[in-house]
Amino acid sequence: MLFLLSSALLVSIIALPAAVLAQWPNMGPTGFNITSVDIAGNGCVPKSTSYVMNADKNAITVASNGYWVETGPGIALNQTRKSCRLTFNTEMPHRWRFGLLSVDYTTYYHLDAKITADQQVTYYFKGELQQGTTRSTFVGPMAPREYTYRDQYDFGFAVESPCNTTSVVWYMHSDIRVGNARNAEGTGRIGSDAVNPPSLKQTYSLYWVKC
Ligand SMILES: *[C@@H]1O[C@H](CO)[C@@H](O)[C@H](O)[C@H]1NC(C)=O
Ligand SMILES: *[C@@H]1O[C@H](CO)[C@@H](O)[C@H](O)[C@H]1NC(C)=O
Ligand SMILES: *[C@@H]1O[C@H](CO)[C@@H](O)[C@H](O)[C@H]1NC(C)=O
Repeated sequence: MLFLLSSALLVSIIALPAAVLAQWPNMGPTGFNITSVDIAGNGCVPKSTSYVMNADKNAITVASNGYWVETGPGIALNQTRKSCRLTFNTEMPHRWRFGLLSVDYTTYYHLDAKITADQQVTYYFKGELQQGTTRSTFVGPMAPREYTYRDQYDFGFAVESPCNTTSVVWYMHSDIRVGNARNAEGTGRIGSDAVNPPSLKQTYSLYWVKC
């Protein structure tokens, strides 16, 4: 989602060569650290949610047991949509900023014909108005198995952390939902199948830029 849209920004999307995109994600700088994460939402109760940052400091993986949704005959409406709100408190090195490149979802999907599913992640920085959103919609049939999907942010409209600050607070709000409006007899799930425990893994890729 984009709040400020100018023709200058539009031009930068078109002009951005693939070679420039290919250099990201790049390694994060020394001095970047996640000091704490606040976790809230019915998709990610704190005790069953974990996060890890890779050694290159350009990918954060959040795994939540219990982050799953289901639709079908007799299934309560409140089971069809779940969300998760993460607040990252981070230490920042001087003269660096970062933005989000993409979200990889790894989990089970199973959709009968015409069952719909939506997934999205919005992020923003404390004190800033602009938000970045990435989303996908799926329409069944989708065979039941584990998939990995990458949703990319609009790179030309980069939403980036402020420069020259020693700490940054940023928010990642995600939700997943399934709907059976077009096939009331069908069923659909994200995040679990009949055998495996319900869980969803999201990997957030970061790119770094010098201020
Ligand atoms: C990063 O923050 C965590 C949590 O506060 C801390 O345990 C860890 O030592 C820090 N790492 C560095 C390199 O500062
Ligand atoms: C979901 O809705 C059902 C039926 O309306 C209710 O029994 C259940 O307590 C609700 N669950 C949650 C977590 O709110
Ligand atoms: C960040 O700090 C550097 C060096 O101190 C300065 O050149 C630059 O203009 C600053 N950038 C911003 C956005 O304040």
